[in-house]
Amino acid sequence: MSQRVVFLTGASGFVGAEFLHRVLLREPDTSVICLVRGTSAQEAQERVVCALDQCARRASAEVKQLHSERLLIVNGDITLPRFGLSPLVYSLLQRRTTHILHAAASTRFDLRLEDARAVNVGGTMEVLRFARGCENLDRFGYVSTAYVAGDREGIVREDELDMAQGFLNTYEQSKFEAETLVRETMAADLPRTVIFRPSIIVGDSRDGRTTSFNVLYCPMRIYGLGVIKTLPGKPWVRLDVVPINYVVDAIQQIFLDETAVGRTFHLVAGPERSMSLQALVDKFVQIYNNHFSSRGLVRRLAVPEIVGENEGRALLDQSIESMPTGQARNLFEMFRFFVPYTQKDKMFDDRSTRRILAERGIEPPPFANYMHRVLSYCFETRWGQKPQKRQSLEAEVWLEEELERIFSPLPI
Ligand SMILES: NC(=O)c1ccc[n+]([C@@H]2O[C@H](COP(=O)([O-])OP(=O)(O)OC[C@H]3O[C@@H](n4cnc5c(N)ncnc54)[C@H](OP(=O)(O)O)[C@@H]3O)[C@@H](O)[C@H]2O)c1
Repeated sequence: MSQRVVFLTGASGFVGAEFLHRVLLREPDTSVICLVRGTSAQEAQERVVCALDQCARRASAEVKQLHSERLLIVNGDITLPRFGLSPLVYSLLQRRTTHILHAAASTRFDLRLEDARAVNVGGTMEVLRFARGCENLDRFGYVSTAYVAGDREGIVREDELDMAQGFLNTYEQSKFEAETLVRETMAADLPRTVIFRPSIIVGDSRDGRTTSFNVLYCPMRIYGLGVIKTLPGKPWVRLDVVPINYVVDAIQQIFLDETAVGRTFHLVAGPERSMSLQALVDKFVQIYNNHFSSRGLVRRLAVPEIVGENEGRALLDQSIESMPTGQARNLFEMFRFFVPYTQKDKMFDDRSTRRILAERGIEPPPFANYMHRVLSYCFETRWGQKPQKRQSLEAEVWLEEELERIFSPLPI
């Protein structure tokens, strides 16, 4: 094995897989041990290979070559004592590990607090326990979220955490508690810790590719159907959106930087590049109409009216109540969790991140500059249903099929 050995959690997920892919491509002296859940060692292996394949712009044979040489996949669960591994394997991994990046988490907004805590706090506790026993550990990286800021408004700084805020959902609260734990451990036993806080992550700014269609994708998909005409929110509220390529580039660079040790970094668009809700909605409709009119769709999407929270929620509840159970209803239910993000105007200050990345020429692009690529990728893959491009599909047929598919109940 090579000199640097990164122990990575979350490699089957959106951020973890992209990070893994970057490291394998760009750091020839780094080996990676991935802790991944599976019903068997083979299934865990296959899940990572599949996630890597989806990230790859290269032929998958090349990816396979990379991972066979410098990648070890271990079947384990962060919520179990010793990750469910034997004492021998656990201590062998501890001896090998020089760096840890803990990216695994439950990212669902709708879990009960105790379930979110079990993964996000309990799992982080287990990873910290593992880290404390790594005799050669040089760095502990933890992927938090900018939304540990909860219901705060105004400027949120990178060095702030507990400001007596409330939380918009159990995800935010459990991630806040987990980051608190990481900071306490950093102060006591693990000084060589770096904390990363991304905001809302979307697909790659160069081609829109993504493996995750959550968070912002959910309202964009719903509004694209043209069946609801209002949006609860405040037009001036800023939404901070970053592309996955910026997030993993930033993690890769900052993680190894000596000056980053002991600090927290916002991986965000930042105050000047965040987009107001109104600007985002306008741009979305413009891109949507351009995309489909150039493919023959006659019907044009209207800009939804942004209305007050109570009125918007009541209309949303009415729409949900009238729906049969099925995919559409699930999508609208998920949308409920997004609504609070259109109410609180906050901006994430990212001066530490900018300073450290400036000399490397890495900066977050404004969402308005690459939103068309993100959306095209959604349209062409039917929101992740089809990995292949389907440019030949007639726009009318596309919309009809989209409506039919998501409004018909799921098969039992
Ligand atoms: N996506 C965003 O917009 C965003 C924004 C800010 C911060 N973040 C943070 O970034 C990190 C990665 O998020 P993501 O978007 O990549 O999430 P994701 O796609 O949902 O992936 C989560 C990963 O965590 C793993 N995991 C969950 N429970 C586990 C367990 N008990 N044992 C082992 N692994 C477990 C999942 O494994 P399975 O595949 O087995 O489920 C998956 O690999 C998280 O810490 C999240 O809070 C994400």
